This record gives sequence, structure tokens and C-alpha cells, in this order.
Amino acid sequence: MPANHDSQRLPASVTPPAAPAAQPAPGLTVLYDGSCPLCRREIALYRGLQASQPLCFADVSDPAMVPPAGTSAQALRARFHVRHADGRLDSGARAFLALWAALPGWRWLARLGAIPGVPALMEGTYRAFLRVRPALQRAAARLEPRPGAAGRIPPDLLGELRSDHAGETGAVMIYRGVLAVARDPALRDFAARHQATEQRHLALVEDWLAPPQRSRLLGPWRVAGWLTGALPALCGARAVYATIAAVETFVDHHYQQQIDRLEDRAGHDDLRQMLIACQADERHHRDEAAALAGPPPGPLLRAWCALVGAGSSAAVVVARRF
Ligand SMILES: [Fe+2]
Ligand SMILES: [Fe+2]
Repeated sequence: MPANHDSQRLPASVTPPAAPAAQPAPGLTVLYDGSCPLCRREIALYRGLQASQPLCFADVSDPAMVPPAGTSAQALRARFHVRHADGRLDSGARAFLALWAALPGWRWLARLGAIPGVPALMEGTYRAFLRVRPALQRAAARLEPRPGAAGRIPPDLLGELRSDHAGETGAVMIYRGVLAVARDPALRDFAARHQATEQRHLALVEDWLAPPQRSRLLGPWRVAGWLTGALPALCGARAVYATIAAVETFVDHHYQQQIDRLEDRAGHDDLRQMLIACQADERHHRDEAAALAGPPPGPLLRAWCALVGAGSSAAVVVARRF
């Protein structure tokens, strides 16, 4: 029975990087969200099983991962995927069936999938699960050990992580504010996608911070975030996109400062990787919003964006302490 192994990048041939020459090419690549506590537990279970073909596991939350052509890291994180040796991608119920078919002890489940109607039923169940997944992720995260509570955050970065907690709380609320006001379907889709990412960032930061280490001013951050999304949404989609570009420009710099401070510090690579992963998403948000905002904004919108940037700076100063 072949052993399972990891891969972070996914070139066209899905060959594990720097693999020993004797290692077989993977038959099935399992694309999972390593930032999700539920996915981590499930994948840990599969990793421990013997497979009938070489399995490769790729964490799609890793910023170094190159998504297969025709898809994106965001799409891969939204649903469970597997990639077959010939390059085909399956997601949702079909992906689970393909994986179970490769695990001798689970093959009976895969056989159930051959019964007419069962794959559709499984897919419906999976979609229902996706709707409650954020709540389950938060519950699972609360059960996991919090490395921050064990003193693994460098003392001089604790305030910065607290401000990240405040910022990600505000970011979730920005999109709630947009969704409360906006009726434009394209803008609502933009806000819903970004909100899901910010919710994940918030869970990641909370993984690191024990409750007493988190920001204590969540009420004000929530109100400020909601207004930062709702007010421009009253003026139209372009105002929202310009606001998001301004916020994310600030957030990108804020994360970069923390990443720089952790460079060359032994023992903090996992914290640095978490910050790099969040920063990569923020940059994507910034670039997407800037492209949608179109030509340079007029004086009023420029003044609003400057106010948002100054407000973000002031909030970080306060959130470092409280
Ligand atoms: Fe974020
Ligand atoms: Fe963001």
C-alpha cells in the first residue's frame, strides 16, 4: 500500500516538490483548507489510513500553493476538492466519493454513491453543511488548544495581534454593513465572498489569542466597521470598492510590519505564516476592489477614503492596548 504524502504547490503534473526519485506520482490529490479546524481533523483521519493508490494532500490555505488551472484558492477553500491524476477536478459529494473509493476501509461508502439519486442526496447534504460550516468552525476552534495562551506570541507582538483581532472583527462588520444596504447583485456577491474570508481571518487570529488577550472594545469596532461598509453602500458600488481598496491598503501595510518583525526570529514561523496567509487575502481584496472602483475617485470620495485610512490607524493605536 502506498504511503500518503504532502504537496503545497500544484504544477500541471501535480508532482510533490523535491520528492525522492523513488516516490510514486500521486494518483489523487486531496485539496483541503488547512485553516479550517474541521478540515484539519478530517484530513488527519484520512492521513492515518492506508490508500489503494498514492494520495497527495495539499493545503489550499497555504499562500505558496498554486491552484490548478481554471480554479482559485478561494474557490478551493469554499468546497472540498480532489484532483485526479489526469487533471480532472471533482468537488463536494463527487470529491468525497473519489477519495473514499481510494480508501479500502471506506469503499463501501463510495459504492453507495453508485446508487441512483444518492450522489445528489449527498451533494444536497454537503451544501446544507456548508451553510452551517462557519458556526461549526468557530465551535471547533474553541475546542482546540490556543497556542497564544501558551505564551507562543512574542510579548512585543501581543498588542499587534490584539489590533489584528479588532481589525478582523471590524472587517466582518464592514461587509455586514454593505449587505444591509446594497441591492446591486454584483456588489452583494463581492461583499459575501469577502465577508467569508474575513470571518476565517477572525477565526485564525482567535486561534492565537486566548480570550483575555483579545481586544476588549469589540462593540465600538463592530459599529465602526458596520458604518464603514453601510455609509458608502448608500452612495453606490463604486464608493464601496474605493473604501475597501483604502482599508485593505492600510491592512496590507499593518500585516507587513508584523511579518517583518518576525523575520529571522526562531520559533515563530507558524505565527508568521498565519500573518502571510491573511495578508495574501487582504492584497487580493485590495486589488479586486481597486480594479472595480475604476477611475480615480473625486474629491469627496478621496476625502472619505483618507478618513477611513486615518480612522484605521487610530483604531490600531487604541486596539494595541485595549
Ligand atoms: Fe482580514
Ligand atoms: Fe480583507
